Amino acid sequence: MVKINHLGIIVDGNGRWAKEKGLNRSMGHKRGAEVLKDIILYLNREKLVNYLSLYVFSTENFDRPQEEVNYLMELFLKWFKTVEKEYTQENIKVYFSGRKEYLRSDIVDAMILLEEKTKNNTGLVVNFCLSYGGRAEIVDATKKIVNKVINNELNIEDIDEKLFSQNLYHNLPDIDFLIRTSGENRISNFMLWQISYAEFYFPKTYFPDFNLDEVKKAFEEYAKRDRRFGRVK
Ligand code: IPE
Ligand code: IPE
Ligand code: MG
Repeated sequence: MVKINHLGIIVDGNGRWAKEKGLNRSMGHKRGAEVLKDIILYLNREKLVNYLSLYVFSTENFDRPQEEVNYLMELFLKWFKTVEKEYTQENIKVYFSGRKEYLRSDIVDAMILLEEKTKNNTGLVVNFCLSYGGRAEIVDATKKIVNKVINNELNIEDIDEKLFSQNLYHNLPDIDFLIRTSGENRISNFMLWQISYAEFYFPKTYFPDFNLDEVKKAFEEYAKRDRRFGRVK
């Protein structure tokens, strides 16, 4: 299978998956998290991807019912608190992107610890976009840069696209392939800077049904794409 340097996934359809089964939306999130964990291990073991960015909770998602937000936060907390040993064995490195100031302190502590404990791993980089907004990331990078200019650490003339990327939450390569499950054809504020030349793929499958066969289909789809980057071949 063709390798993808930076794969993005907008995890979507958990709620509708549950609703169609007559279940509470939270059960969709529970199943979705299990599927996501399998995908991470698979992509790492098969060395199919170098960077994997996962949109799991947007800044806008805080406006959902409190019960659902709480369920998701507990799910993340349990995940991040228990996965360190496995990710270290598997050589997986974890990043988080997003506004930590909106999150509960116990979750932030678990995130900081997991990033710290996996920082020397050299396999797949998993970038969890949590409490994340693409515009917020651009605004936050702008503030960082302006501060450096004010403190005379940087000249205005030094600001270019490369420097801007270096001031985002993490200095990641551009996204090559972006998958959004559940049939929605939109970006919903995901990695606006990094998707400028990404290939998009919108399978109808709800995320809890997005199994490894679906992942393989996505890679087959990517292999068919003709990426020109504005040039003529
Ligand atoms: C994605 O599934 C998970 C999160 C956004 C946290 P949704 O919860 O958006 O599921 P639908 O879109 O309502 O089906
Ligand atoms: C986008 O999904 C956010 C995440 C996947 C975390 P939503 O389900 O919240 O997006 P909209 O509301 O359908 O655009
Ligand atoms: Mg949704």
